[in-house]
Amino acid sequence: MLEAACRSPDHGALRPWRFITVRGDARIRLGEVFARARAQRDSSATEADLESERRKPLRAPLIIAVAAVVTTDHPSVRVIDQVLSAGCAAHAILLGAQALGYGGIWLTGSNCHDPNVKSALGLRAEDSIVGYLYLGTLLQEPPSRERPDPDALTVAWSGRGEAFEPVSAPK
Ligand SMILES: Cc1cc2nc3c(=O)[nH]c(=O)nc-3n(C[C@H](O)[C@H](O)[C@H](O)COP(=O)(O)O)c2cc1C
Repeated sequence: MLEAACRSPDHGALRPWRFITVRGDARIRLGEVFARARAQRDSSATEADLESERRKPLRAPLIIAVAAVVTTDHPSVRVIDQVLSAGCAAHAILLGAQALGYGGIWLTGSNCHDPNVKSALGLRAEDSIVGYLYLGTLLQEPPSRERPDPDALTVAWSGRGEAFEPVSAPK
């Protein structure tokens, strides 16, 4: 899975990806990090909210936090390119997991952006956690989603100035 991630498109070969694996008891400690960060940023958080933060990492045996450790002053590679590359790496991990017969889900939320969480994971405030990948053996098939028709999302732009009808957002 991580080899697949390291094959991700990478503008400038900066290798901005970091893969932070959390398993076993470390998941309990990550839950504590989530709960402390929530308490600090949200004074209205109840004990039930904090308990829900504590339990989050316990939903799968392996969590991989995928981060972009960014070069902010690169002369030609913008930060967004580095973050997108980390997104590709996250997707490659999910595809790798599926190919190996595991299940996985990409989750984000406030714990991706909280500076205290980043710091606890060894990241700087300017780095991005692009997602937490929750990975494990599937207990049941996940519900299938309707997939869009690619044609509904695609226009062939000719540049000849013809009336252009923007593709509407899928319903
Ligand atoms: C960047 C990103 C962030 C996501 N964050 C969440 C999230 O926080 N919570 C959630 O339920 N699904 C989130 N999803 C969607 C799930 O990862 C997943 O795509 C969805 O459950 C449907 O599964 P499927 O894509 O295998 O059909 C996110 C997806 C992406 C790409």
